[in-house]
Amino acid sequence: MTRRTREETRLIRTGMAAGGRLAKTVGPPIQKGSTVLLPDAASLYDETQVTYGRGGLAAQNALMDALAELEGAKAVRLFPSGLAALTGALMAVLKAGDEVLVTDTIYKPTRRFCDNVLTRYGVVVRYFEPRTAPDALPWSPATRLVLMESPGSLTFEMHDVPAVAAAARARGALSMIDNTWGAGLLFKPLTHGVDLSVQALTKYVGGHSDVFMGSAAAVDPDLCHALDHAVWDFGWAVSAEDAYQMLRGLRTLPTRMARHGDSSLKVARWLRDQPEVLQVLHPALPGAPDHDLWKRDFTGAAGLFGVVLKPASEAAVHALLDELSLFGLGFSWGGFESLALDCDHQLVHRRFRQAYDGPVLRLNIGLEDPGDLIEDLRRGLDALNRLDEA
Ligand SMILES: Cc1ncc(COP(=O)(O)O)c(C=O)c1O
Repeated sequence: MTRRTREETRLIRTGMAAGGRLAKTVGPPIQKGSTVLLPDAASLYDETQVTYGRGGLAAQNALMDALAELEGAKAVRLFPSGLAALTGALMAVLKAGDEVLVTDTIYKPTRRFCDNVLTRYGVVVRYFEPRTAPDALPWSPATRLVLMESPGSLTFEMHDVPAVAAAARARGALSMIDNTWGAGLLFKPLTHGVDLSVQALTKYVGGHSDVFMGSAAAVDPDLCHALDHAVWDFGWAVSAEDAYQMLRGLRTLPTRMARHGDSSLKVARWLRDQPEVLQVLHPALPGAPDHDLWKRDFTGAAGLFGVVLKPASEAAVHALLDELSLFGLGFSWGGFESLALDCDHQLVHRRFRQAYDGPVLRLNIGLEDPGDLIEDLRRGLDALNRLDEA
């Protein structure tokens, strides 16, 4: 017989989990909870059961499963941002005394983490020029990991990823890649021999410029454990709402990527023919740098690429950017809206700086009509000319 309780107690105990009454919806339930209620005392310390909500519940689990399918991974772990996924995966596998080889075209905040944090914990960081032949990388017996990004941030150099991964393995080292441009869809690092595939889901998987998250994926059981432990030991968690949003983005990823790729190539081809442009840095564009590697390894193009302009003053470049009305000026990418920025301020941090003969811009081609974007860019180039002639 149930004991009769007072109203305060009844209000605490009523309206709790829906139990078996959950209706079946297309997406997973947004299950929220720090506390997980266990069925009996024996379950409290049973490590095979979910005993606490930080590791993720229904929505986070559904997202991890879907990303494992996308990446061809045994396990995927979620992090509160793309940068956290990169730094988290590094912390999962590195220890004091290790050396890590990092591409010089790595996303700048990842570089800052390597320089400011890894070095403080006794890890030696060596940068390499992204087109270095794999056997000529600065390997040493202490090399534990090589970190790639292909194409690289801002200037879009490609690595021969399978060859670098194989060279690492031959030396008993691990390989890891920031595969945000490939979005887990256009390029499959794990099937090309890479040990850790990381991406900022914030970009293409989210697709709407409104959620932060990152993922790290692996096949090897030891690496899967290492990622799992890092997530637990550092206490990273993502919300059920954000995981749900990411899952929603994932449903339309292939459709959006096809459009981003198509439109970016239309705009890139047009830009290549403009008198103000020296070079287009888009590996999917025939004739562009590293196109052969892209063609060999990738199944499609993303919407982000670089443009080298003929020499122009900073004021003229700003006039171009300020004239754009369909391109927002901003730092992220991968969303449905087009964005532009000038890159020269960021390139100065590179160790092996390639000399470009003019200012470098980066364009994120969104889902707008590419013809409209081309007209917008033409107006921008006219503004650049007006200022340079004045
Ligand atoms: C190549 C690359 N990797 C990682 C990140 C980090 O993503 P998040 O902003 O989610 O930390 C970015 C963000 O711009 C990026 O461009």
